[in-house]
Amino acid sequence: MDLQALESYATHHTTDHSEIIKELIKVSEGDLEHTDMLSGRIVGRLLSLLVKISGARRVLEVGTFAGYSALMMAEALPEDGELFTCEYNERYEDIARTFFEKSKAGSKVRLVMGKALETIPTISGSFDFVFLDADKINYPNYYAMILPRLQEGGILVIDNVFWSGEVLNPQSDKARAINELNKQIRDDDTVEQVMLPVRDGVTILRKK
Ligand SMILES: C[S@@+](CC[C@H](N)C(=O)[O-])C[C@H]1O[C@@H](n2cnc3c(N)ncnc32)[C@H](O)[C@@H]1O
Repeated sequence: MDLQALESYATHHTTDHSEIIKELIKVSEGDLEHTDMLSGRIVGRLLSLLVKISGARRVLEVGTFAGYSALMMAEALPEDGELFTCEYNERYEDIARTFFEKSKAGSKVRLVMGKALETIPTISGSFDFVFLDADKINYPNYYAMILPRLQEGGILVIDNVFWSGEVLNPQSDKARAINELNKQIRDDDTVEQVMLPVRDGVTILRKK
């Protein structure tokens, strides 16, 4: 089976992006390096559908980059929904802010600049949906910080849980940190989860 061809087939049978998000992708590809950080149509649409299906109103994202996944989720939120997205790299701030301002859904987005482990505690209240997609080395620290702030029945989505397959035999600090979190979640009976072999691995968990 040609997995790459199947992923491309799946992408082309997944609901397409809005015009503003197509523009964001185009501008990101022109202006930024590392555009593979952008989670892409399958994960983006998965997030959008999960936000809609769960009826989430208050979302936290850790790792904004150009604002792609933030806008995918913001488009799925109700009018009075709110999404906080944390980023520390000022290089990405301009492009993200430009698209949050340009897009109708962007009025629901609050961009929080600074190291996320320091800024998350400054955001008050609880969350009913969280997308974790920032520095992998801190994944276990984010989990410890976020889980108590996730409402019962709330959803946490974690990207890159395979780390290009390195979790099978973790040699780097990042792979070890991701593997540690994967084991922690497996052994945590306060949550129920599924680890999906989608793209670089995506875990979806629900707090019981
Ligand atoms: C994989 S990218 C996020 C991609 C985005 N979620 C998307 O799908 O479009 C990870 C982002 O996390 C940011 N980041 C890394 N460490 C961080 C930290 N300690 N605090 C805040 N942001 C951080 C990086 O600068 C990068 O923009």
